[in-house]
Amino acid sequence: MQTTTARLLLVEDQADFAAVVKLMLQNSDRTWEISEVDRLAPALDCLAGGGIEAVLLDLRLPDATGFEAVDRVVAGFPDIPVVVMTSYDRTLAADALGRGAQDYIIKGEVNPTLLSRALTYALMRKSAEVALRRSDARFRAAVEGSLDAVGILSAVRDRSGRVTDFVVVDINHNAERLLGRPRDAVVSRRLTELGPPEAVGPVLQRSVSVMGEGHALEEELSVALPGTPMRWFHHQMVPLEDGVSIALRDTTSRHDKEEDLHRREEQLRQSQKMEAIGRLAGGVAHDFNNLLTVIRGHGELVLRRLEEEHPLRRNLQEIGLAAERASALTHQLLAFSRKQVLQPRTLDLAEVLDRMESLLQRMIGEDVELVTRRRGALGSVRADPAQMEQIIVNLAVNARDAMPQGGVLTIELANAELDETYARDHPTVVPGPHVVLSVTDTGHGMDPDTQSRIFEPFFTTKEPGKGTGLGLATVYGIVKQSEGSIWVYSEPGRGSTFKVYLPRVDQPAEPLSPRTGAAAVHGSEMVLL
Ligand SMILES: Nc1ncnc2c1ncn2[C@@H]1O[C@H](COP(=O)(O)OP(=O)(O)OP(=O)(O)O)[C@@H](O)[C@H]1O
Ligand SMILES: [Mg+2]
Repeated sequence: MQTTTARLLLVEDQADFAAVVKLMLQNSDRTWEISEVDRLAPALDCLAGGGIEAVLLDLRLPDATGFEAVDRVVAGFPDIPVVVMTSYDRTLAADALGRGAQDYIIKGEVNPTLLSRALTYALMRKSAEVALRRSDARFRAAVEGSLDAVGILSAVRDRSGRVTDFVVVDINHNAERLLGRPRDAVVSRRLTELGPPEAVGPVLQRSVSVMGEGHALEEELSVALPGTPMRWFHHQMVPLEDGVSIALRDTTSRHDKEEDLHRREEQLRQSQKMEAIGRLAGGVAHDFNNLLTVIRGHGELVLRRLEEEHPLRRNLQEIGLAAERASALTHQLLAFSRKQVLQPRTLDLAEVLDRMESLLQRMIGEDVELVTRRRGALGSVRADPAQMEQIIVNLAVNARDAMPQGGVLTIELANAELDETYARDHPTVVPGPHVVLSVTDTGHGMDPDTQSRIFEPFFTTKEPGKGTGLGLATVYGIVKQSEGSIWVYSEPGRGSTFKVYLPRVDQPAEPLSPRTGAAAVHGSEMVLL
């Protein structure tokens, strides 16, 4: 630095003083390459031409009034240090410093060392200032461009030195957006003035602990302010010299997507599990049923050959009855694994339900009130009427069992349009027009664990001998085989709703023959009750 050459612009209208200055600078440590002008206008031209590294500026020039000279040089060339000269007025010189000059010299007191030092220091200070300004601008650009909402807080301490609050020093554009307030409305304000205690409290408390511990903090936050939906943030807090910087990234949409994905994966896993159990159950039921047929066949053969009075007849009859019950169970398993032979017809489910009302009423007993509703002109579905009755019976029996102290059982039929959004959330659903059968009770409800298993064959929470756990498995199988879907909504203590969606068909329903229903219901009643 000592040996380098610096280009200086000397702006002085008094020629004799200008000459003195030049003389003084010739003997300085640094080599000064001096351009000389005697007015402000040519000085500005010269500066505009470039290459000048420092300005030695007389405060009074013939073509400038007041502080015009220093103001225009500083404003026009903020990176060039200015040292002002004045004949006598120290206050004037000091004011010039306030307007951006680096230093001043009093003409009468100047000597070569002083002048050279003033100029050299001015150069050094300016270059430090410029470097700081550039680095500041770089950081500001980086912070402004950040995807995060960034804020810088400075600690406010009480007399004992304890941090009690923070003042917002600065925020970036994303923080303005997040807060929904412009920078001016936030900067210089105290944190505690910026929001309700429940929102500000956690920030304050974290800021204090980050400052105290001196470590950065990084976490996922969920924020639910009254009246606004839950939001998720990735949050970083870094301790500064006497404050903290905070960066927040709104991850709500990513979070929602992940949750959505998780839910869909879970549903898919569930339906794959049912698929696997179904295949297994179906295989076992099929082979088992064949074995039962052999047992029953041989039993009957032996029975026919035994005389009426034979003592083993009763035992054989018991074997036959047990085999029959076992076979009824395997039929339910076959229903679950969708291996039943269905007799689908174009049906009006309202008609099916109508025919069952008195039977249902008897089944659920006096303590449970039965409400049935049909909403609007119901479309037809393609399904086996006996199987539809079986679905309604099984769901109604479960509802009754969930309401041992009585309650209301509501069975409702309505048309429903399942759209793409619904289908996206429920992976096994095919979008389109459907008829929905809802069975709602006011019973004890189910926790999520129970809900995730209810359609599995043999899953039951009932005492041994009270339930086989095949009711809903059968319903599930029938619904799936009829190309529908079934969903349950329940909470412990808040009852349950089962919704069965069956695709709607654009054909008039065939009237039911009187016998189909009654027989099937008796069948399922026998098995279920
Ligand atoms: N409406 C309901 N309210 C509360 N829990 C229910 C309801 N429906 C079914 N559940 C639960 O789901 C389990 C399985 O039901 P599912 O109908 O398959 O078998 P089950 O009723 O126990 O026996 P089964 O129907 O074979 O006699 C029940 O044990 C019960 O825990
Ligand atoms: Mg049941």
